[in-house]
Amino acid sequence: MNILVTGATGFIASHTIVELQNENHTIIGIDNLCNSSADTLDNIKKITGKDIDFYECDIRDTDKLKDVLSKYKIDCCIHFAGLKAVGESVAKPVEYYDNNIAGTLSLLKVLKEIDCKNIIFSSSATIYGTPAFVPITEECPKGICTNPYGWTKHMIEQILIDTQNANKDMNVVILRYFNPIGAHPSGLIGEKPNGIPNNLMPYITQVACGIREKLFVYGNDYDTPDGTGVRDYIHVVDLARGHVKALAAIEKNCGVDIFNLGTGHGYSVLDVINTFEKVNNIKIPYEIVARRPGDIASCYADPEKAKRVFGWVAQYSLSDMCRDSWNYQHRLF
Ligand code: NAD
Ligand code: UD1
Repeated sequence: MNILVTGATGFIASHTIVELQNENHTIIGIDNLCNSSADTLDNIKKITGKDIDFYECDIRDTDKLKDVLSKYKIDCCIHFAGLKAVGESVAKPVEYYDNNIAGTLSLLKVLKEIDCKNIIFSSSATIYGTPAFVPITEECPKGICTNPYGWTKHMIEQILIDTQNANKDMNVVILRYFNPIGAHPSGLIGEKPNGIPNNLMPYITQVACGIREKLFVYGNDYDTPDGTGVRDYIHVVDLARGHVKALAAIEKNCGVDIFNLGTGHGYSVLDVINTFEKVNNIKIPYEIVARRPGDIASCYADPEKAKRVFGWVAQYSLSDMCRDSWNYQHRLF
């Protein structure tokens, strides 16, 4: 298939392109490079031996997007492009709503004009808010988001549902990611955090290489086995393969369908620290501090639906994730 990938040079998209190319799909990539670099394209080629047709373009530039895409017959668009820093979204809500929502509206207009009826969207477990129950199934009600980033995902899901409702020949697959970490085992592509990381794994790797003195563990008084927050960490290569499998749902004319992509296992902050130390043989000094506002105790998926509908099951362990995160990130410092 000819697959349009927005946000193509980003963390999750670059791994997804590798898996799509491994299955012989042809990739047309778009990115404005606001949070990634074109070097990623060379590194993808080192892994797969294949090129992609890449265009530096902001998805909000509807005219340019149409110009670029009108020469292709696109079978499916996988829409990753967006801003994703939770803290920054609180400080810059207008920029986040503009980039993520106006960007998606612009993309949808162009997809209609070029007659592309299939879209897979990168959503997040953040839309469950404080989940009504764990493990979280897709039937779990959407919750109150604690930040504008989360609301953009919440709203875009509704925009896509309404658009499909008005265009019954469209297929929309919404993938709700849990906590992606890790990197390609080659060490050639991975996540490059900007500034002080908000997320756990990039912070741990910066402590591991001495950029930061210690990790601050946000609370040990949660109602979890060891008191620290529990999350469903998923290897980015497993997540990438989930997108390739999700194409099968599109081929079955699913209308709108929603899937959790997680492993189904919850690990605490201390589990992650201990596993990272063991696998990489590096000590991670840490201090327990107050809870981080907006954090929840436990969040992990019931990934049964993705297994049942398109046969996807995560393969990599937490040890693999800790090994591959470090293998990629220590080269950056
Ligand atoms: P990323 O920042 O590495 O990738 C996003 C890419 O989109 C970047 O390359 C950026 O330059 C590009 N981009 C942003 N705005 C654009 C625009 N207007 N036009 C064109 N390109 C634009 O982030 P990621 O971690 O790979 O996330 C990919 C998607 O998955 C995002 O939509 C994100 O919200 C979602 N998601 C990520 C996580 C996570 O933990 N990483 C979790 C849940 C959902
Ligand atoms: C965050 C985002 C979520 C996003 C997800 C994946 C919030 C409220 N949510 O989720 O929208 O989809 O990242 O990128 O920010 N922790 C520490 N010390 C640290 C960093 C984190 O103890 O320095 C703890 C947290 O309290 C939490 C766990 O580690 O229990 C995971 O945190 P993080 O990696 O930031 O992910 P989430 O909070 O799950």
